[in-house]
Amino acid sequence: MAFLEFPKGFLWGAGTSAHQVEGGNRFNDWWAFEHQGGIANGEISGGAADAWHKFREDFELARQLGHTATKVSIEWSRIEREPGRYDEEAIGHYAEVLGAARDAGLETFVVLHHFTSPLWLAAVGTWANLDAPRRFGEYAAVVAARLGGLADHWITVNEPMILAAFGYVGGRWPPRGRGLLAGRRAAVNLMRAHRAAYDAIKRARPDADVGVAVNATTFVTSAERTLAERVARPALEWLANWWFLDRVRDSCDFIGLQYYSRITVRSVLFGKPGYGPGGEDVPVSDLGWAIYPQGLHNCVRHASRRYRLPLYVTENGLADAADTRREAFIRDHLAQLHRAIREGADVRGYLHWSLTDNFEWLEGFGPRFGLVAVDYATQERHVRPSARYYERVCRRNGLDV
Ligand code: BGC
Repeated sequence: MAFLEFPKGFLWGAGTSAHQVEGGNRFNDWWAFEHQGGIANGEISGGAADAWHKFREDFELARQLGHTATKVSIEWSRIEREPGRYDEEAIGHYAEVLGAARDAGLETFVVLHHFTSPLWLAAVGTWANLDAPRRFGEYAAVVAARLGGLADHWITVNEPMILAAFGYVGGRWPPRGRGLLAGRRAAVNLMRAHRAAYDAIKRARPDADVGVAVNATTFVTSAERTLAERVARPALEWLANWWFLDRVRDSCDFIGLQYYSRITVRSVLFGKPGYGPGGEDVPVSDLGWAIYPQGLHNCVRHASRRYRLPLYVTENGLADAADTRREAFIRDHLAQLHRAIREGADVRGYLHWSLTDNFEWLEGFGPRFGLVAVDYATQERHVRPSARYYERVCRRNGLDV
């Protein structure tokens, strides 16, 4: 057995996002989409995990679980319910949230946009609208000015390419756009939005630490390794993982990488891209996503060499209601992360997804990603056994393998 020790000061924690846990986010595009029957089983986010009221309890749990950091998001549609009118109550609420995280000893990663947009922006096309980046920059300026003292790290946009792909190319997410051109336009607008927010935060607080969080995946070929697969693999990896970052690297103090699973090149070539499938020695999560820890190593190593910037793993986790695979998942992914660090990657923290169970977008409340289980009938929290395993890792700053 060997002990894998992480660098001194390495941050350990878990994340959530506003719409997925707060409840009552009635003024954004996802809420509208849910009420049009967009979600599995006709679910709606409704009261979600009631984090709007229970954030203190949740941060306290994180503290008890040995965490030193957390990733939360600010809901734009609460701060700016109507264009240009900023809601003092909402700003005050988020000041309490971030203050509570601090009180619990957690460094904050504050996300300004995690998939949801205000209804007023949706009414004019959301990220298809050329004015959206400017609007986003203005919102970022207000948040940075009012809440900046409480944020340790800023993430402008969460997984812009996932939003562009699902919302604008594939038509599965709001605003149900369809086509490569629509996707490209949204992605370019999200780049501009990132830059506008980066500049706005820096103007308000020149010493702020600002980055973006991208979804990173690894593409694998089949045993046959056909010519088409071999040609497509690097192109897909570049488009999915690095295309956005290549264009915004100069306005990033750090990069957040979010890794879940691998994608087979074959599934893309056959027009059905997705995480999975599993295989003989590749188990899957409750969502059928292949558990493939070496993919995290690939992504971190590549990002480290390509950008030479500080990295954080800002999401990594799995849906596992029975909690039978989470401990091994964490152990195996952290072992791969440690390998990348040994090879020279400047990784400074790991945030598991997620702190509590939450509303999993199209899939609704079924998938259970939380270290802490939520009983949605009572909103009670129950710490899962794997969270205790992770607690030992956090407290020892490392793990046995
Ligand atoms: C998102 C989260 C989501 C998780 C699991 C990430 O892409 O940022 O909001 O819950 O994946 O699907």
